[in-house]
Amino acid sequence: MTRIVNSGMGDGGGRMSDAGEPAIDLERVGRSFDGRSILKDVNLRIGRGELFGLLGPSGSGKSTLIKLIAGIDKPEGGRIRVLGRQVPSLALLSNIGYMAQSDALYGELSAKENLQFFGAMFKLPGARLAERLEAALSTVGLSSDAGKPVARFSGGMKRRLSLAIALLHEPELLILDEPTVGIDPVLRVSIWSSLLALRERGTTILLTTHVMDEADRCDRIGLIREGTLTAVGSPAELKAESGASTIEEAFIRLGGEKR
Ligand SMILES: Nc1ncnc2c1ncn2[C@@H]1O[C@H](COP(=O)(O)OP(=O)(O)OP(=O)(O)O)[C@@H](O)[C@H]1O
Ligand SMILES: [Mg+2]
Repeated sequence: MTRIVNSGMGDGGGRMSDAGEPAIDLERVGRSFDGRSILKDVNLRIGRGELFGLLGPSGSGKSTLIKLIAGIDKPEGGRIRVLGRQVPSLALLSNIGYMAQSDALYGELSAKENLQFFGAMFKLPGARLAERLEAALSTVGLSSDAGKPVARFSGGMKRRLSLAIALLHEPELLILDEPTVGIDPVLRVSIWSSLLALRERGTTILLTTHVMDEADRCDRIGLIREGTLTAVGSPAELKAESGASTIEEAFIRLGGEKR
């Protein structure tokens, strides 16, 4: 069963006061590579303050979609608005925190120096940078490794530093591509409580995940398969619609899995 669902907006929980326009608004967005259509007519609205999870098999187009929303890549058709602005927009840079699927870090610099570099890019003033640097390092459990060159970090430590960079300037919108890959269960729990706390403060979060219990914690989930959004709804809605008792089962029944 494959259904096309054009999502409505979540209620956003009243977490942002200026919730005039949705945080993310995609209309008929398409992207192809080498003549192969990767994203097809994607329509999606994500409300301010929502925690939205994108789920789909490997190669289904999650990262491609996320890059378009972050303004790193351009769609071939359709319209993308983020925080009330047409993407790409320079003004959006300071309001978005983006964590790519592969880490883009300076190996010869320490974790702290990497954060200082990005802090300067976001034009954070000295005192605020110092305060944010400590907070971001602590959120990802890297405070005691702050002085170590990143080239000597493990894969999970690099992921955590990438997340700290995305959080550094307290953006209104966080776009995280598989933020918890390679992160151990204990730290994953603490990172999730930080994400939930940010959401409570009004931050909109869009993330991709392959982990079903993470998907279950999202306000809404979008299932993507071969570049098409096949279903959008809250975990409870998706389970009810598909008659599934777990989100994993709903994911399979609603066309998240190739058959
Ligand atoms: N720059 C590119 N050039 C050519 N093809 C690309 C490019 N980027 C992505 N693709 C193709 O687009 C498709 C979707 O890739 P994408 O990275 O969006 O998948 P994904 O859903 O994020 O997968 P994963 O779960 O493995 O990260 C794949 O077939 C991939 O090979
Ligand atoms: Mg990906």
